[in-house]
Amino acid sequence: MKPQELKAAVDKRRTFAIISHPDAGKTTITEQLLLFGGVIREAGTVKGRKSSHFAKSDWMAIEKQRGISVTSSVLQFQYAGKQINILDTPGHEDFSEDTYRTLMAVDAAVMVIDSAKGIEAQTKKLFKVVKQRGIPIFTFMNKLDRDGREPLDLIAELEDLLGIEGYAMNWPMGMGKGLAGLYDRVDHRIELYRENEAGEKYLPLDQDGKLDPSEPLANDSIYTDTLDSIELLNDAGNQFDLKKVMTGDQTPVFFGSALTNFGVETFLKHFVEMAPAPGPHKLQDGREISPTDPNFSGFVFKIQANMNPNHRDRIAFVRIGAGEFERGMDVTLARTGKVLRLNNSTEFMADTREQVQTAVAGDIVGLYDTGNFQIGDSIYAGKDPVEYEKLPQFTPELFMRVTPKNVMKQKSFHKGMQQLVQEGAVQLYRTYTTNDYILGAVGQLQFEVFKFRMQNEYNSEVVMTPIGSRVARWIDPDQLDEKMSSSRNLLVKDSQGLPLFLFENQYAERWFADKYPDVKLTAKL
Ligand code: G4P
Repeated sequence: MKPQELKAAVDKRRTFAIISHPDAGKTTITEQLLLFGGVIREAGTVKGRKSSHFAKSDWMAIEKQRGISVTSSVLQFQYAGKQINILDTPGHEDFSEDTYRTLMAVDAAVMVIDSAKGIEAQTKKLFKVVKQRGIPIFTFMNKLDRDGREPLDLIAELEDLLGIEGYAMNWPMGMGKGLAGLYDRVDHRIELYRENEAGEKYLPLDQDGKLDPSEPLANDSIYTDTLDSIELLNDAGNQFDLKKVMTGDQTPVFFGSALTNFGVETFLKHFVEMAPAPGPHKLQDGREISPTDPNFSGFVFKIQANMNPNHRDRIAFVRIGAGEFERGMDVTLARTGKVLRLNNSTEFMADTREQVQTAVAGDIVGLYDTGNFQIGDSIYAGKDPVEYEKLPQFTPELFMRVTPKNVMKQKSFHKGMQQLVQEGAVQLYRTYTTNDYILGAVGQLQFEVFKFRMQNEYNSEVVMTPIGSRVARWIDPDQLDEKMSSSRNLLVKDSQGLPLFLFENQYAERWFADKYPDVKLTAKL
């Protein structure tokens, strides 16, 4: 590709993830987006897959589910001249560190909130990770066709709970059974809510944001009430500030109903206009790399194991940070200096898996991996080494004690453990005094995958004893006194030997903080 072609291709990319609490409507909205992108023709295609839930302990079913979820790990479609990449961030039982790491590979995030529930726990967690990256966050307040909370309340909650300013791009005219439409502050029109009804969808607003007085709706109290709300927003609400949007300090808020496909296209249209194309990435040595750098480079943000039960291969997901990817190209693995030929790549589409021919900065490629890659690895073509900034570590919340079932098989136990931990499948801790193995994860699925892989790849059966959820807090080694440890705050060390406490709950943490006011406790992301 010539430099200008590369630039044009990169500028077209919009790579983002949808973050939400389970049941807020992420699948439904994704499906609507795919409909607009022409990838699917019928609603229900994605949902149907999701409903084929797997029994937790049944790996084959997980495998099956994984196979499906991998093909939908990256959904690609074209819309308004842009190439859209949606990265899947699983919820429910699938939630894992990979979900967080996926957020390291996107240029923007869309937060879907159930307007009856407001901000829920998982949204808050994912938001924290996105916010730390300083990327734009767009909000879709969903399920307007049902009675929900007051819109002003929902906007205020963004600020109160998440510390981000909200700017309402449109405003609901009623809700639930009384939903009449959306007052569009940007496109100066009213988008009418007509469930299963044909007819004009939009009513224009004049320069002052008013309807033509001859319009019947103009005399309806739902309209006049909306004007009052808009006036209030104009006078006392946040001012729109694109700069703040770009740094994730302000979120454009859209209202709608994914299920009835109301407000979704308006959202998509504005999102595509505002969301950024891939930008420069920070490198480990402090430099930045431009996405239009002619030499291909990228980083592994997720590794999916055992895609195919017959072949023990894995797939490494690479976010392209710069340049163009071509099949069969040689790349260097920055960590080892090893040269690899990438001739077996897979591009993930909603329905089919196709061999990738070319992909550019902003795109995700899946590479078959026979054990070369670790999470966070950088690969590059060209002579100059490129090493992307390290991925952050996340604070695990669930813990398990793990021992080999057969004490005679210590060797394979240690080998498997070491490799899976290195790969980033789970986090490993050792108790301070007895050196017991403790695994930490953000989602239960990580433990299940660990157990299965230990047995199948390393022939090591493990016994796992749940410790349950704990609050992990690191402590300055200089301040540590082993006597501080108790049954309510287990003292362990992480893989780098740094000490931390696993508190039984936040009360135990508070109790500790009261008892040792000078001791500083820190959480990772
Ligand atoms: P998720 O991926 O975030 O977990 O949510 P999903 O889209 O699966 O939606 C969760 C439930 O909320 C689904 O209902 C879905 O139909 C419903 N839903 C999504 N968007 C809207 C909306 O705008 N309005 C209303 N009223 N409901 C919405 P379900 O009964 O759990 O599933 P299903 O039986 O419809 O498949």
